[in-house]
Amino acid sequence: NVLILDFGSQYTQLIARRVRELNIYCEIHPYNKLPENLSDFKAVVLSGSPFSVRGEDAPHPDLSEIRGKKPLLAVCYGAQYLAHFSGGEVAPSNTREYGRANLSFIKGGEEFFNGISVGSQVWMSHSDTIKSLPTGAVLLASTGDVTNAAYKIENEETYAIQFHPEVYHSTDGKQLLDNFLIGIAKIQPNWTPNSFVDTTVSELKEKLGNDKVVLGLSGGVDSTVAAVLLHKAIGSNLYCIFVNNGLLRKNEFASVLQQYEGMGLNVKGVDASARFLEALAGESDPEGKRKIIGRVFIEVFDDEANQIEDAKWLGQGTIYPDVIESVSVNGGPSATIKSHHNVGGLPDFMKLKVVEPLKMLFKDEVRRVGGSMGLDPELLGRHPFPGPGLAIRILGDITPEKVSILQEVDAIFINGLKENGLYDKVWQAGAILLPVQSVGVMGDERTYEKCVALRAVESTDGMTADWVNLPYEFLQKTSNEIINKVKGVNRVVYDISSKPPATIEWE
Ligand code: XMP
Repeated sequence: NVLILDFGSQYTQLIARRVRELNIYCEIHPYNKLPENLSDFKAVVLSGSPFSVRGEDAPHPDLSEIRGKKPLLAVCYGAQYLAHFSGGEVAPSNTREYGRANLSFIKGGEEFFNGISVGSQVWMSHSDTIKSLPTGAVLLASTGDVTNAAYKIENEETYAIQFHPEVYHSTDGKQLLDNFLIGIAKIQPNWTPNSFVDTTVSELKEKLGNDKVVLGLSGGVDSTVAAVLLHKAIGSNLYCIFVNNGLLRKNEFASVLQQYEGMGLNVKGVDASARFLEALAGESDPEGKRKIIGRVFIEVFDDEANQIEDAKWLGQGTIYPDVIESVSVNGGPSATIKSHHNVGGLPDFMKLKVVEPLKMLFKDEVRRVGGSMGLDPELLGRHPFPGPGLAIRILGDITPEKVSILQEVDAIFINGLKENGLYDKVWQAGAILLPVQSVGVMGDERTYEKCVALRAVESTDGMTADWVNLPYEFLQKTSNEIINKVKGVNRVVYDISSKPPATIEWE
């Protein structure tokens, strides 16, 4: 178990991912809220921060429970923090200390730098520099511009580095974390998808006993993997509900339901399309649509859940990025919880306790856990799809006719991506029905019909995204097929906007 203390760096989550890639479990906690079970953590990493240690409102945590008592790795701000308060000096730097640099000196015979040689590329991102090392420190490495790039404190297992081992551009960063965590801190790298499944299933058994759990399946990766884990633990005491809101992709409801049944899940499909579409009639405001869909979903789900006698728990596919307590940078160094649609989504009138077996996993870890339980790779590789579905891809008001036009267009596009080996190269794709009619000509007839936009983006987390440079021939073929086959559409455009400043969805 590794504890990562977050000082608000944009890279903190990356540290966690790198540590987990070494098959070592870790948790992120805000710097000003040490976990109660501190003794369970075998090593601590201090993250970077947008603050300067010299700033008045910079994080200045009390590390007396940690320093000298556990192996400690201080990254960037962490390294400056140790220096500043332990007899060293930190000052604004006057040389360029952003981006790539190369190690020009490494002290010999140090386990910390095992397998890393002079010349190794590291990534810097700081505006202060460590002018002199803290008391008891030994210099371990330098770069051309930064003399004090790494140091350790004698007679402690305390290491500090000015660069960021967690970013991809630090080419030996993973080796360094390996040297520290496995070599120096002697942590066993035994946290794997299989071990996660085994421990989680036994914890769930213990926690849930003979209780019944209700879970809403969405067809997405997270809810599916959560369901399979719960199913392994409590079998038929897991009651899954899969709601068709009428805004899913073409044939999605039937095919996914069949897939769930094939997996042995106890699942009830509820076709509430009409109820959703009626509630949405006439609404064209994007947030208005989202609210209606959220409300109707809760009503439908609650009706179903109430039919399951004595249900005690609500299962959810919440994942780690939704729950990490992050250090709020804009509002000062106070800890806030990110608001997200999956967190706190439990309506008051559903008096169920919540069980979230994936709460500590990142998305790619959820996929690996799913893979280790034998889930269909196609299901695990699915693109994300928004909860409100096609409703936010039909600009303006929603009618059944528009939904079915968009389903046809979307199916041609998505199947085309799959058939041409492009689907897995794209993070998310879909079609948008625009509130625009334009003139066309088909045969000898003038047409005045709808326009659709195609969108395909690459991204890692949906926070930033860029449009994908799909081959022209593919776009040409897709456009022809859409216009020829989908009645009511006479024009196709391709969205070439990045996020920011655009967003992935149009609403
Ligand atoms: P944007 O459009 O904000 O989308 O760039 C980022 C990611 O979030 C998805 N998205 C939603 N997902 N409910 C959801 O469950 C929503 O209301 C919603 N809006 C956007 C979007 O598909 C993309 O993956």
